[in-house]
Amino acid sequence: MKVNFVSKLTDKNEILALVTDKKSLSEFKGLDKNLLSKINHAVNNENFEFNKFSSLEIINDKNNSFSKIIIISPGQKSLISGNDLAIIGGKINQISSKSKNKRVSVLVANEFSNDENLVEIGFGATLNTYKFNKYKSKKKAIKQINEITIISKNAVKLKNKFRQKNSVAEGIFLARDLVNEPSNILNPEEYAKRIKGLSKYGLKIEVLNETKMKKLGMWSLLGVGRGSQYESQLVIMKWDGNKSKKSKPLCFVGKGVCFDSGGISLKPGNKMEEMIGDMGGSAAVVGLMKVLALRRAKVNVVGVVGLVENMPDGTAQKPGDIVKSMSGQTIEIQNTDAEGRLVLADALWYAQDKYKPEIMIDLATLTGAIVMSLGNKMAGIFSNNDDLSDKLLDAGRDSGDNVWRLPLSDSYDKMINSKFADMKNIGIGGAGSITAAQFLKRFVNKVPWVHIDIAGTATGMEKSSINTSWATGFGVNLLNTLISKFYE
Ligand code: BES
Ligand code: ZN
Ligand code: ZN
Repeated sequence: MKVNFVSKLTDKNEILALVTDKKSLSEFKGLDKNLLSKINHAVNNENFEFNKFSSLEIINDKNNSFSKIIIISPGQKSLISGNDLAIIGGKINQISSKSKNKRVSVLVANEFSNDENLVEIGFGATLNTYKFNKYKSKKKAIKQINEITIISKNAVKLKNKFRQKNSVAEGIFLARDLVNEPSNILNPEEYAKRIKGLSKYGLKIEVLNETKMKKLGMWSLLGVGRGSQYESQLVIMKWDGNKSKKSKPLCFVGKGVCFDSGGISLKPGNKMEEMIGDMGGSAAVVGLMKVLALRRAKVNVVGVVGLVENMPDGTAQKPGDIVKSMSGQTIEIQNTDAEGRLVLADALWYAQDKYKPEIMIDLATLTGAIVMSLGNKMAGIFSNNDDLSDKLLDAGRDSGDNVWRLPLSDSYDKMINSKFADMKNIGIGGAGSITAAQFLKRFVNKVPWVHIDIAGTATGMEKSSINTSWATGFGVNLLNTLISKFYE
Protein backbone atom coordinates (compact mmCIF):
# COMPACT_ATOMS: atom_id res chain seq x y z
CA MET A 1 0.00 0.00 0.00
CA LYS A 2 1.39 3.32 -1.07
CA VAL A 3 0.98 6.55 0.89
CA ASN A 4 1.04 9.69 -1.20
CA PHE A 5 0.85 13.40 -0.46
CA VAL A 6 -0.50 15.79 -3.08
CA SER A 7 -1.54 19.42 -2.91
CA LYS A 8 -4.88 19.22 -4.73
CA LEU A 9 -7.79 16.88 -4.54
CA THR A 10 -8.62 15.36 -7.90
CA ASP A 11 -11.52 13.06 -8.44
CA LYS A 12 -9.46 10.30 -9.99
CA ASN A 13 -9.60 8.43 -6.70
CA GLU A 14 -12.43 6.12 -5.86
CA ILE A 15 -13.01 6.74 -2.16
CA LEU A 16 -12.95 10.04 -0.32
CA ALA A 17 -12.27 10.12 3.41
CA LEU A 18 -13.11 13.32 5.29
CA VAL A 19 -11.52 13.78 8.69
CA THR A 20 -13.65 16.43 10.28
CA ASP A 21 -15.84 17.58 13.13
CA LYS A 22 -19.36 18.87 12.56
CA LYS A 23 -18.59 22.56 12.33
CA SER A 24 -15.75 22.06 9.84
CA LEU A 25 -18.02 20.27 7.38
CA SER A 26 -18.77 23.64 5.80
CA GLU A 27 -15.10 23.87 4.70
CA PHE A 28 -15.72 21.26 2.05
CA LYS A 29 -18.11 23.39 0.03
CA GLY A 30 -15.80 23.10 -2.98
CA LEU A 31 -16.94 19.51 -3.43
CA ASP A 32 -19.52 18.50 -5.97
CA LYS A 33 -23.02 19.70 -5.01
CA ASN A 34 -24.67 16.31 -5.24
CA LEU A 35 -22.02 14.86 -3.03
CA LEU A 36 -22.39 17.62 -0.48
CA SER A 37 -26.10 17.22 -0.20
CA LYS A 38 -25.64 13.49 0.29
CA ILE A 39 -23.13 14.08 3.04
CA ASN A 40 -25.35 16.57 4.84
CA HIS A 41 -28.33 14.36 4.44
CA ALA A 42 -26.51 11.37 5.88
CA VAL A 43 -24.99 13.28 8.78
CA ASN A 44 -28.35 14.76 9.75
CA ASN A 45 -30.58 11.79 9.13
CA GLU A 46 -28.33 9.21 10.71
CA ASN A 47 -28.00 11.47 13.73
CA PHE A 48 -24.31 11.00 13.33
CA GLU A 49 -22.44 12.04 16.45
CA PHE A 50 -18.97 13.42 15.92
CA ASN A 51 -17.32 11.55 18.76
CA LYS A 52 -13.69 10.46 18.78
CA PHE A 53 -13.16 7.84 16.03
CA SER A 54 -16.84 7.60 15.06
CA SER A 55 -17.26 7.01 11.37
CA LEU A 56 -19.92 6.99 8.71
CA GLU A 57 -19.84 5.41 5.27
CA ILE A 58 -21.86 6.90 2.47
CA ILE A 59 -22.28 5.05 -0.79
CA ASN A 60 -22.44 7.37 -3.75
CA ASP A 61 -24.28 5.56 -6.51
CA LYS A 62 -25.03 8.56 -8.71
CA ASN A 63 -21.99 7.89 -10.86
CA ASN A 64 -20.34 10.92 -9.43
CA SER A 65 -16.62 11.30 -8.91
CA PHE A 66 -16.29 9.30 -5.70
CA SER A 67 -17.98 5.98 -5.22
CA LYS A 68 -17.85 6.16 -1.45
CA ILE A 69 -17.41 8.79 1.23
CA ILE A 70 -16.05 7.98 4.67
CA ILE A 71 -16.56 10.57 7.37
CA ILE A 72 -14.38 10.06 10.39
CA SER A 73 -14.30 12.25 13.44
CA PRO A 74 -11.26 13.04 15.56
CA GLY A 75 -13.53 14.24 18.38
CA GLN A 76 -12.88 17.38 20.37
CA LYS A 77 -9.61 19.01 19.37
CA SER A 78 -8.44 19.57 22.93
CA LEU A 79 -8.84 15.88 23.69
CA ILE A 80 -6.68 14.60 20.84
CA SER A 81 -3.56 12.91 22.12
CA GLY A 82 -0.86 10.31 21.48
CA ASN A 83 -1.50 8.23 18.42
CA ASP A 84 -5.14 9.24 17.86
CA LEU A 85 -4.48 10.43 14.31
CA ALA A 86 -2.65 7.21 13.50
CA ILE A 87 -5.72 5.31 14.69
CA ILE A 88 -7.81 7.44 12.32
CA GLY A 89 -5.43 6.64 9.46
CA GLY A 90 -5.70 2.97 10.37
CA LYS A 91 -9.49 3.20 10.34
CA ILE A 92 -9.56 4.86 6.96
CA ASN A 93 -7.54 1.97 5.59
CA GLN A 94 -9.59 -0.62 7.45
CA ILE A 95 -12.93 0.72 6.19
CA SER A 96 -11.69 1.33 2.64
CA SER A 97 -10.16 -2.11 2.35
CA LYS A 98 -13.60 -3.70 2.69
CA SER A 99 -14.75 -2.23 -0.60
CA LYS A 100 -13.82 -3.12 -4.15
CA ASN A 101 -12.16 0.21 -4.71
CA LYS A 102 -8.42 0.43 -4.53
CA ARG A 103 -7.66 4.11 -3.99
CA VAL A 104 -8.55 6.63 -1.30
CA SER A 105 -8.10 10.37 -1.01
CA VAL A 106 -8.02 11.90 2.46
CA LEU A 107 -9.14 15.45 3.15
CA VAL A 108 -8.59 16.76 6.66
CA ALA A 109 -10.40 19.81 8.06
CA ASN A 110 -8.07 22.77 8.69
CA GLU A 111 -8.30 22.52 12.42
CA PHE A 112 -6.80 19.04 12.39
CA SER A 113 -4.51 19.25 9.39
CA ASN A 114 -1.14 20.22 10.82
CA ASP A 115 1.83 18.41 9.26
CA GLU A 116 2.31 16.01 12.12
CA ASN A 117 -1.31 14.88 12.06
CA LEU A 118 -1.24 14.23 8.33
CA VAL A 119 1.94 12.18 8.62
CA GLU A 120 0.38 10.25 11.50
CA ILE A 121 -2.63 9.43 9.33
CA GLY A 122 -0.31 7.93 6.72
CA PHE A 123 1.59 6.07 9.44
CA GLY A 124 -1.59 4.60 10.90
CA ALA A 125 -2.87 3.56 7.49
CA THR A 126 0.41 1.73 6.95
CA LEU A 127 0.25 0.01 10.35
CA ASN A 128 -3.22 -1.24 9.45
CA THR A 129 -1.75 -3.32 6.62
CA TYR A 130 0.28 -5.61 8.93
CA LYS A 131 -0.47 -9.33 8.71
CA PHE A 132 1.36 -12.43 9.87
CA ASN A 133 0.06 -15.14 7.57
CA LYS A 134 3.25 -16.81 6.33
CA TYR A 135 2.24 -20.17 7.84
CA LYS A 136 -1.21 -20.28 6.26
CA SER A 137 -0.89 -22.68 3.36
CA LYS A 138 -4.09 -21.36 1.80
CA LYS A 139 -3.78 -17.61 1.68
CA LYS A 140 -7.06 -15.73 1.74
CA ALA A 141 -7.28 -13.14 -1.00
CA ILE A 142 -5.97 -10.03 0.69
CA LYS A 143 -8.42 -7.15 0.61
CA GLN A 144 -6.26 -4.12 0.62
CA ILE A 145 -6.33 -0.73 -1.01
CA ASN A 146 -3.38 0.14 -3.23
CA GLU A 147 -2.97 3.80 -2.56
CA ILE A 148 -3.91 6.42 -0.01
CA THR A 149 -3.50 10.04 -1.05
CA ILE A 150 -3.43 12.70 1.62
CA ILE A 151 -4.16 16.26 0.55
CA SER A 152 -1.93 19.06 1.88
CA LYS A 153 -0.51 22.38 0.72
CA ASN A 154 2.81 21.14 2.13
CA ALA A 155 2.77 17.94 0.10
CA VAL A 156 6.47 18.01 -0.85
CA LYS A 157 7.66 18.55 2.69
CA LEU A 158 5.29 15.90 3.99
CA LYS A 159 6.62 13.30 1.58
CA ASN A 160 10.00 13.57 3.30
CA LYS A 161 8.53 13.60 6.77
CA PHE A 162 6.51 10.56 5.95
CA ARG A 163 9.55 8.67 4.72
CA GLN A 164 11.01 9.06 8.22
CA LYS A 165 7.84 7.92 9.89
CA ASN A 166 7.50 5.01 7.54
CA SER A 167 10.83 3.71 8.87
CA VAL A 168 9.13 3.44 12.25
CA ALA A 169 6.40 1.28 10.74
CA GLU A 170 9.07 -0.94 9.17
CA GLY A 171 10.79 -1.34 12.54
CA ILE A 172 7.48 -2.18 14.22
CA PHE A 173 6.73 -4.77 11.51
CA LEU A 174 10.14 -6.37 12.03
CA ALA A 175 9.58 -6.56 15.80
CA ARG A 176 6.13 -8.08 15.26
CA ASP A 177 7.44 -10.63 12.77
CA LEU A 178 10.14 -11.73 15.20
CA VAL A 179 7.71 -12.08 18.11
CA ASN A 180 5.06 -13.88 16.05
CA GLU A 181 7.64 -16.32 14.69
CA PRO A 182 7.46 -19.73 16.42
CA SER A 183 10.48 -20.96 18.36
CA ASN A 184 11.09 -24.04 16.21
CA ILE A 185 12.06 -21.55 13.52
CA LEU A 186 13.39 -18.59 15.50
CA ASN A 187 15.88 -20.23 17.86
CA PRO A 188 18.81 -18.20 19.23
CA GLU A 189 21.14 -19.17 16.38
CA GLU A 190 18.63 -18.37 13.63
CA TYR A 191 17.73 -15.13 15.41
CA ALA A 192 21.37 -14.03 15.50
CA LYS A 193 21.64 -14.78 11.76
CA ARG A 194 18.58 -12.68 11.01
CA ILE A 195 20.01 -9.77 12.99
CA LYS A 196 23.28 -10.10 11.06
CA GLY A 197 21.23 -9.58 7.92
CA LEU A 198 20.46 -6.03 9.11
CA SER A 199 24.04 -5.02 8.31
CA LYS A 200 22.74 -4.22 4.81
CA TYR A 201 21.11 -1.12 6.29
CA GLY A 202 24.44 0.15 7.63
CA LEU A 203 24.29 -1.32 11.14
CA LYS A 204 27.47 -2.90 12.50
CA ILE A 205 26.65 -6.31 13.94
CA GLU A 206 28.80 -8.40 16.26
CA VAL A 207 27.80 -11.82 17.56
CA LEU A 208 29.30 -13.37 20.69
CA ASN A 209 28.85 -17.15 20.79
CA GLU A 210 29.10 -19.32 23.91
CA THR A 211 32.89 -19.66 23.71
CA LYS A 212 33.28 -15.89 23.70
CA MET A 213 30.75 -15.41 26.50
CA LYS A 214 32.52 -18.02 28.63
CA LYS A 215 35.75 -16.05 28.24
CA LEU A 216 33.93 -12.96 29.49
CA GLY A 217 32.51 -14.85 32.48
CA MET A 218 28.83 -14.49 31.51
CA TRP A 219 27.78 -17.51 33.58
CA SER A 220 24.46 -15.96 34.54
CA LEU A 221 23.29 -15.74 30.91
CA LEU A 222 24.94 -19.02 29.92
CA GLY A 223 23.25 -20.92 32.77
CA VAL A 224 19.81 -20.20 31.25
CA GLY A 225 20.70 -21.78 27.90
CA ARG A 226 22.23 -24.95 29.31
CA GLY A 227 19.17 -27.12 28.64
CA SER A 228 18.78 -25.97 25.04
CA GLN A 229 20.02 -27.70 21.89
CA TYR A 230 20.89 -24.27 20.54
CA GLU A 231 23.85 -22.09 21.47
CA SER A 232 23.05 -18.90 23.36
CA GLN A 233 24.07 -15.68 21.63
CA LEU A 234 24.80 -12.12 22.59
CA VAL A 235 24.28 -9.82 19.63
CA ILE A 236 25.53 -6.24 19.51
CA MET A 237 24.13 -3.79 16.95
CA LYS A 238 25.75 -0.39 16.44
CA TRP A 239 24.39 2.65 14.68
CA ASP A 240 26.88 5.56 14.45
CA GLY A 241 24.79 8.35 13.04
CA ASN A 242 26.53 11.17 14.88
CA LYS A 243 30.00 11.36 13.33
CA SER A 244 30.64 15.00 14.28
CA LYS A 245 31.25 14.61 18.00
CA LYS A 246 32.46 11.62 19.92
CA SER A 247 29.38 11.54 22.08
CA LYS A 248 28.66 8.68 24.46
CA PRO A 249 26.18 6.25 22.90
CA LEU A 250 22.70 5.47 24.08
CA CYS A 251 22.39 1.79 24.99
CA PHE A 252 19.30 -0.40 24.61
CA VAL A 253 19.33 -3.91 26.00
CA GLY A 254 16.71 -6.60 25.31
CA LYS A 255 15.63 -9.92 26.77
CA GLY A 256 15.59 -12.48 23.98
CA VAL A 257 14.25 -15.74 25.39
CA CYS A 258 13.16 -17.50 22.19
CA PHE A 259 11.10 -19.92 24.24
CA ASP A 260 10.56 -19.88 27.99
CA SER A 261 9.36 -23.29 29.16
CA GLY A 262 10.37 -22.30 32.68
CA GLY A 263 13.23 -24.81 32.54
CA ILE A 264 13.38 -27.33 35.41
CA SER A 265 10.87 -25.08 37.24
CA LEU A 266 8.57 -26.01 34.36
CA LYS A 267 5.61 -23.77 33.58
CA PRO A 268 2.09 -25.23 33.49
CA GLY A 269 0.91 -26.23 30.01
CA ASN A 270 -1.94 -23.75 29.71
CA LYS A 271 -0.89 -20.89 27.39
CA MET A 272 2.72 -22.05 27.43
CA GLU A 273 2.73 -21.53 23.66
CA GLU A 274 2.67 -17.79 24.31
CA MET A 275 6.23 -18.07 25.56
CA ILE A 276 7.44 -17.89 21.95
CA GLY A 277 6.97 -14.17 22.60
CA ASP A 278 9.42 -14.04 25.47
CA MET A 279 11.93 -12.35 23.19
CA GLY A 280 9.70 -9.25 22.81
CA GLY A 281 12.23 -6.99 24.55
CA SER A 282 14.98 -7.96 22.15
CA ALA A 283 12.61 -7.61 19.18
CA ALA A 284 11.85 -4.02 20.20
CA VAL A 285 15.59 -3.27 20.31
CA VAL A 286 16.18 -4.91 16.92
CA GLY A 287 13.19 -3.06 15.44
CA LEU A 288 14.46 0.23 16.85
CA MET A 289 17.94 -0.29 15.36
CA LYS A 290 16.37 -0.87 11.95
CA VAL A 291 14.36 2.35 12.30
CA LEU A 292 17.46 4.36 13.21
CA ALA A 293 19.39 2.99 10.25
CA LEU A 294 16.53 3.48 7.77
CA ARG A 295 16.00 7.07 8.78
CA ARG A 296 19.74 7.76 9.14
CA ALA A 297 19.21 9.07 12.70
CA LYS A 298 21.86 11.56 13.84
CA VAL A 299 22.70 9.74 17.02
CA ASN A 300 25.01 6.98 18.27
CA VAL A 301 23.19 3.97 19.59
CA VAL A 302 24.22 0.49 20.70
CA GLY A 303 21.67 -2.31 20.95
CA VAL A 304 22.54 -5.44 22.91
CA VAL A 305 20.31 -8.52 22.95
CA GLY A 306 20.78 -11.73 24.92
CA LEU A 307 19.33 -14.66 22.94
CA VAL A 308 18.67 -17.93 24.74
CA GLU A 309 16.18 -20.76 25.02
CA ASN A 310 15.04 -21.84 28.50
CA MET A 311 14.47 -25.62 28.43
CA PRO A 312 14.43 -28.53 30.89
CA ASP A 313 17.05 -31.20 30.20
CA GLY A 314 19.61 -33.38 31.94
CA THR A 315 22.10 -30.62 31.30
CA ALA A 316 19.78 -27.78 32.35
CA GLN A 317 20.36 -25.41 35.25
CA LYS A 318 18.63 -26.50 38.49
CA PRO A 319 17.05 -24.74 41.45
CA GLY A 320 19.72 -24.37 44.12
CA ASP A 321 22.54 -23.82 41.62
CA ILE A 322 24.80 -20.84 42.23
CA VAL A 323 26.28 -18.96 39.26
CA LYS A 324 28.80 -16.16 39.00
CA SER A 325 27.83 -13.27 36.73
CA MET A 326 30.23 -11.22 34.59
CA SER A 327 30.04 -8.49 37.26
CA GLY A 328 31.58 -10.88 39.78
CA GLN A 329 28.37 -11.06 41.84
CA THR A 330 27.02 -14.51 42.60
CA ILE A 331 23.38 -15.59 42.17
CA GLU A 332 21.49 -18.43 43.80
CA ILE A 333 18.97 -19.84 41.32
CA GLN A 334 15.77 -20.50 43.28
CA ASN A 335 13.50 -20.71 40.28
CA THR A 336 14.75 -21.43 36.78
CA ASP A 337 11.66 -19.68 35.39
CA ALA A 338 12.97 -16.31 36.60
CA GLU A 339 15.48 -16.49 33.74
CA GLY A 340 15.04 -13.13 32.00
CA ARG A 341 16.82 -11.25 34.77
CA LEU A 342 19.71 -13.74 34.56
CA VAL A 343 20.12 -12.99 30.87
CA LEU A 344 19.85 -9.24 31.39
CA ALA A 345 22.30 -9.24 34.33
CA ASP A 346 25.19 -10.08 32.00
CA ALA A 347 23.85 -8.18 28.98
CA LEU A 348 23.42 -4.97 31.04
CA TRP A 349 26.83 -5.35 32.65
CA TYR A 350 28.49 -5.93 29.28
CA ALA A 351 26.74 -2.94 27.69
CA GLN A 352 27.65 -0.43 30.38
CA ASP A 353 31.18 -1.80 30.89
CA LYS A 354 32.08 -1.82 27.21
CA TYR A 355 30.22 1.24 25.86
CA LYS A 356 30.07 3.64 28.85
CA PRO A 357 26.66 4.86 27.64
CA GLU A 358 25.00 8.18 28.37
CA ILE A 359 21.81 6.32 29.25
CA MET A 360 20.86 2.66 29.33
CA ILE A 361 17.35 1.28 28.83
CA ASP A 362 16.37 -2.37 28.94
CA LEU A 363 13.17 -3.96 27.72
CA ALA A 364 11.93 -7.35 28.81
CA THR A 365 8.85 -9.52 29.04
CA LEU A 366 10.07 -10.01 32.57
CA THR A 367 7.22 -10.78 34.96
CA GLY A 368 3.67 -12.09 35.02
CA ALA A 369 3.21 -9.71 37.94
CA ILE A 370 3.30 -6.65 35.69
CA VAL A 371 0.29 -8.07 33.83
CA MET A 372 -1.49 -8.27 37.21
CA SER A 373 -0.65 -4.62 37.94
CA LEU A 374 -1.12 -2.90 34.59
CA GLY A 375 -2.88 -5.43 32.37
CA ASN A 376 -2.23 -5.19 28.64
CA LYS A 377 -2.54 -1.41 28.54
CA MET A 378 0.73 0.01 29.79
CA ALA A 379 4.27 -1.19 30.41
CA GLY A 380 5.86 -0.73 33.82
CA ILE A 381 8.99 1.37 34.10
CA PHE A 382 11.56 1.37 36.89
CA SER A 383 14.42 3.82 37.07
CA ASN A 384 17.34 5.20 39.06
CA ASN A 385 16.90 8.60 37.39
CA ASP A 386 13.86 10.93 37.54
CA ASP A 387 14.86 12.96 34.50
CA LEU A 388 15.22 9.98 32.18
CA SER A 389 12.10 8.41 33.58
CA ASP A 390 10.13 11.64 32.90
CA LYS A 391 11.43 11.70 29.33
CA LEU A 392 10.23 8.16 28.82
CA LEU A 393 6.80 8.95 30.27
CA ASP A 394 6.62 11.86 27.85
CA ALA A 395 7.65 9.69 24.88
CA GLY A 396 5.05 7.17 26.01
CA ARG A 397 2.26 9.75 25.85
CA ASP A 398 3.41 11.00 22.43
CA SER A 399 3.83 7.61 20.84
CA GLY A 400 0.84 5.82 22.35
CA ASP A 401 3.21 3.16 23.74
CA ASN A 402 2.14 4.07 27.25
CA VAL A 403 4.28 3.45 30.33
CA TRP A 404 3.71 3.87 34.05
CA ARG A 405 6.40 4.29 36.67
CA LEU A 406 6.66 1.92 39.63
CA PRO A 407 8.98 2.27 42.62
CA LEU A 408 12.40 0.95 43.55
CA SER A 409 13.70 1.07 47.11
CA ASP A 410 16.08 -0.57 49.57
CA SER A 411 13.19 -2.28 51.31
CA TYR A 412 12.41 -4.19 48.11
CA ASP A 413 16.08 -4.76 47.41
CA LYS A 414 16.46 -6.65 50.71
CA MET A 415 13.94 -9.21 49.48
CA ILE A 416 16.45 -10.74 47.07
CA ASN A 417 19.30 -11.24 49.53
CA SER A 418 20.40 -14.89 49.59
CA LYS A 419 21.66 -17.11 52.37
CA PHE A 420 24.43 -18.62 50.26
CA ALA A 421 25.14 -16.17 47.44
CA ASP A 422 25.11 -12.40 46.90
CA MET A 423 21.50 -12.56 45.78
CA LYS A 424 18.77 -14.96 44.73
CA ASN A 425 16.82 -14.73 41.51
CA ILE A 426 13.34 -14.48 43.04
CA GLY A 427 11.90 -12.54 45.96
CA ILE A 428 9.19 -13.90 48.18
CA GLY A 429 6.41 -11.74 49.61
CA GLY A 430 4.84 -10.18 46.54
CA ALA A 431 5.86 -7.20 44.39
CA GLY A 432 7.27 -9.58 41.77
CA SER A 433 7.88 -6.91 39.13
CA ILE A 434 9.67 -4.66 41.59
CA THR A 435 11.95 -7.35 43.02
CA ALA A 436 12.80 -8.32 39.42
CA ALA A 437 13.73 -4.69 38.74
CA GLN A 438 15.75 -4.54 41.97
CA PHE A 439 17.66 -7.58 40.75
CA LEU A 440 18.54 -5.79 37.50
CA LYS A 441 19.53 -2.65 39.40
CA ARG A 442 22.29 -4.63 41.08
CA PHE A 443 23.94 -4.89 37.66
CA VAL A 444 23.70 -1.19 36.84
CA ASN A 445 26.35 1.27 38.04
CA LYS A 446 25.95 5.05 37.96
CA VAL A 447 24.49 5.34 34.47
CA PRO A 448 20.92 6.74 34.19
CA TRP A 449 18.90 3.60 33.55
CA VAL A 450 15.31 2.56 32.96
CA HIS A 451 13.93 -0.97 32.95
CA ILE A 452 10.72 -1.47 30.95
CA ASP A 453 8.67 -4.55 31.79
CA ILE A 454 6.66 -5.27 28.63
CA ALA A 455 5.25 -8.69 29.63
CA GLY A 456 1.71 -7.28 29.24
CA THR A 457 2.25 -5.14 26.16
CA ALA A 458 4.62 -7.00 23.81
CA THR A 459 1.73 -9.31 22.91
CA GLY A 460 -1.99 -9.66 23.48
CA MET A 461 -3.01 -6.01 23.59
CA GLU A 462 -6.49 -5.10 22.43
CA LYS A 463 -6.71 -5.16 18.63
CA SER A 464 -7.17 -1.82 16.95
CA SER A 465 -6.85 -0.27 13.52
CA ILE A 466 -3.10 0.11 14.10
CA ASN A 467 -2.55 -3.03 16.17
CA THR A 468 -3.69 -5.91 14.05
CA SER A 469 -1.73 -8.89 15.32
CA TRP A 470 -0.86 -10.81 18.50
CA ALA A 471 2.60 -9.28 18.62
CA THR A 472 2.38 -5.51 19.00
CA GLY A 473 5.88 -4.22 18.33
CA PHE A 474 5.53 -2.27 21.58
CA GLY A 475 8.61 -0.22 22.39
CA VAL A 476 9.82 0.60 18.88
CA ASN A 477 7.79 3.78 18.53
CA LEU A 478 8.37 4.61 22.21
CA LEU A 479 12.16 4.49 21.96
CA ASN A 480 12.30 6.14 18.56
CA THR A 481 10.17 8.99 19.94
CA LEU A 482 12.45 9.28 22.98
CA ILE A 483 15.52 9.50 20.75
CA SER A 484 14.14 11.97 18.22
CA LYS A 485 12.62 14.22 20.87
CA PHE A 486 15.49 14.31 23.37
CA TYR A 487 18.73 12.97 21.92
CA GLU A 488 19.09 14.07 18.30
N1 BES B 1 8.66 -14.83 30.67
C1 BES B 1 8.12 -14.83 31.97
C2 BES B 1 7.23 -13.63 32.25
C3 BES B 1 5.99 -13.51 31.43
C4 BES B 1 4.77 -13.91 31.94
C5 BES B 1 6.01 -12.93 30.19
C6 BES B 1 3.62 -13.75 31.20
C7 BES B 1 4.86 -12.78 29.44
C8 BES B 1 3.65 -13.20 29.95
C9 BES B 1 9.25 -14.83 33.01
O1 BES B 1 10.44 -15.41 32.62
C10 BES B 1 8.75 -15.59 34.19
O2 BES B 1 8.50 -16.75 34.02
N2 BES B 1 8.59 -14.93 35.31
C11 BES B 1 8.09 -15.55 36.47
C12 BES B 1 8.95 -15.12 37.62
C13 BES B 1 8.72 -15.90 38.88
C14 BES B 1 9.22 -17.33 38.72
C15 BES B 1 9.43 -15.23 40.02
C16 BES B 1 6.65 -15.06 36.67
O3 BES B 1 6.38 -13.89 36.39
O4 BES B 1 5.82 -15.86 37.06
ZN1 ZN C 1 10.43 -17.54 32.94
ZN1 ZN D 1 10.79 -15.38 30.55
